[in-house]
Amino acid sequence: MADKKKSAKAQLIDLRGRDVITTQEFSVAELEAILALALEMKKNRYSERHAKLMLRQTFTMLFYNPSLRTRQSFEAAATELGGHAQFLEPKAMRLKSVSGKKDSAGESIHDAAKVIARYSTGMGIRILENSVDKYGDGNWLLREYAKFADIPVLNMADDIYHPCQGLADNMGMRLNVPQGESTRGKTLLQTWASGKLARSYCSVHESLLINSRLGMNIRLAFPKGYELPDTRVLDAVRENCKRAGTKFEMINDPLAGYEGSDYVYSRNWFGPDFYQIGKDAEIARASDRKYKDWICDERKMKIAGPNAKFIHPMPVDEEHEVTPEVNRGPRSIIMDIAECRLHVQKALMAMTICGVKMQGGRIIWPKK
Ligand code: CP
Repeated sequence: MADKKKSAKAQLIDLRGRDVITTQEFSVAELEAILALALEMKKNRYSERHAKLMLRQTFTMLFYNPSLRTRQSFEAAATELGGHAQFLEPKAMRLKSVSGKKDSAGESIHDAAKVIARYSTGMGIRILENSVDKYGDGNWLLREYAKFADIPVLNMADDIYHPCQGLADNMGMRLNVPQGESTRGKTLLQTWASGKLARSYCSVHESLLINSRLGMNIRLAFPKGYELPDTRVLDAVRENCKRAGTKFEMINDPLAGYEGSDYVYSRNWFGPDFYQIGKDAEIARASDRKYKDWICDERKMKIAGPNAKFIHPMPVDEEHEVTPEVNRGPRSIIMDIAECRLHVQKALMAMTICGVKMQGGRIIWPKK
C-alpha cells in the first residue's frame, strides 16, 4: 500500500509523440525513465510484451551518411518490437539538396516529411558534416522534418548531436560501475585524440551533455587549436555540472586528466576550421608528430586507476585514438556500449511511438 501511494506521487513520464533531437531537450527525470526502460529491454529482450509494441508498424530511416551500428541497431530494435525499419538513401530519392536549402530543385522537406508520416509511425535521420556546407545545417534539416512530420523524429546522428549514442554511453557505464556504486559522482575524461578519420563533434557533444546532466564530473582535454567551437554546447555542459554539483574542467595536456578518472573516452574531433580546410587537410594536421602523445594507452590507464574503464562510441581508430591493448583489453567496455544502442533505441521507440509510460520506475504498458 505504501509503495502504491509512493508511485502515485511520482511524476508520470509520457513521451508519446516527442521528437528526439538531443538529450539536452529532455528533463533528468525523462532521461532516467528512458534508461530504466532500456534496462528492462535488456533484461527481457525477447519478451512477448516487447515483441508486440510495434506490431506491423514501419519505422523509416533516412541515411545521408554511412553507418554500421546505427543502421543495424535500429533495424534490430524495430524487429524486436514487432515492426520493421525501412532503410532509405536520400540519393536514391528526389529531395532538395540540404546545402541549397530553399533554392535547390527537388521535393521539399515539407512534402517528403508528410508523405513519410503517412507510411510509418516514426522516422530516424542521419546527416553528418560531409553532407552539408556548414556546421548546424544537418541539425536544421532534422528540425525541419520534425516540424512537418506528425510522427516522432529520432536523431540517428547529425552534425551537432547524437542522442542515442549519449544514452548508450551512459547506460554502458552504469552496467560497468563497481557493485553497489553509481556513475553519479564518477569522473569522465573526454579527451581529444590524434587520428586519421577527421571525426564529427556529435558523439563527443552528446557524451558531454548527458553525462554532465546525469551527475558525472567532466574533464575535457584537448591540445590548443582543437577547442570545441560550439560555445552553446560548452555553456550547457558547464551549467549541467553546476546544477548537478559536479566539476567541469578543461585541460590542455594529454596526460594531466587521467589521474583519478573513472572512465576515459579518447576520440578524435576535427578543428574549428574543418568546414573551410576540408577532410584531407584536417587529417594531415591531426597526424602531425606533435600530437603523438594524444593517444590512450595502458600506461595512462594505469595512472587513471585500477578500475578505470575505456569507452568509445565506435568505430575506433586503433593506433591513433587508443592502442589495441586498451581497446581490446579488459578495461574496454565498448562492446557493452554498442549493445546498449539497441536497448536505448527500443526504449525511445517504445515511449515516443508506442506510448509506453514510466512512473517512479514502474512501466505502464499501453492497453492492448
Ligand atoms: N556510433 C555510431 O553511430 O556508429 P555508426 O556510425 O556505425 O552508426
